[in-house]
This record gives sequence, structure tokens and C-alpha cells, in this order.
Amino acid sequence: MKILITGATGNIGKPLIQFLERSSNEHQIYATVRNINNPKNDFLKHSSIELLEFDFENIDHYPRL
Ligand SMILES: NC(=O)c1ccc[n+]([C@@H]2O[C@H](COP(=O)([O-])OP(=O)(O)OC[C@H]3O[C@@H](n4cnc5c(N)ncnc54)[C@H](OP(=O)(O)O)[C@@H]3O)[C@@H](O)[C@H]2O)c1
Repeated sequence: MKILITGATGNIGKPLIQFLERSSNEHQIYATVRNINNPKNDFLKHSSIELLEFDFENIDHYPRL
């Protein structure tokens, strides 16, 4: 299954991603972050997670997502 998680760096998103990674490797996890280069997002730079830069307030980001 393909799973898209927004708010991946937040209180809910971070443990959710960690849970999904532990539970199974059959899912393809996509995580959105506003700034891909922010060091606080480094925990997401994992091979099984594809990072996508996305800001809900930027209309230009929607087609790409
Ligand atoms: N925590 C709770 O107990 C709880 C309970 C009920 C409902 N909720 C709701 O669940 C959601 C997440 O809660 P949380 O506690 O995990 O929040 P949080 O820790 O404040 O995290 C917010 C997340 O949303 C991202 N974000 C903020 N503005 C964004 C934007 N314009 N575009 C894209 N991403 C954006 C932040 O990314 P950056 O890293 O880029 O800042 C961060 O990953 C919120 O809507 C909250 O109201 C939470």
C-alpha cells in the first residue's frame, strides 16, 4: 500500500512513521515536509521513506503531490 503522511515532523506524524516502519516493510511511505533541508527532518531520511516537499499554504505544491 502507498501511504502519504502529512505533518510527518509533528507529535503525531513522527511516531506514526516509526510505528509503520516497525510494523511492516510492505508499505511505501511518503512523508511531506515543508523544508526538506531542515536538520530536524533528518530522522525521515530513511531509505524506505520518500520525502516530498509540501506546504498546504502553497498552491503550487498541490499538482506535484
Ligand atoms: N497532538 C494531539 O494530541 C492532537 C489531538 C487532536 C488533533 N490533533 C491535530 O492533528 C494535527 C497534528 O498534530 P500534532 O500534534 O502532530 O502537531 P505538531 O506537532 O504541531 O505538528 C504539525 C505538523 O504539521 C506540519 N505543518 C504545519 N503547517 C504546515 C503547512 N502549512 N503545510 C504542511 N505541513 C504543515 C508541521 O511541519 P513542519 O515540520 O514543516 O513545521 C508538522 O509536521 C493537527 O492538525 C492537530 O490539530 C492533534
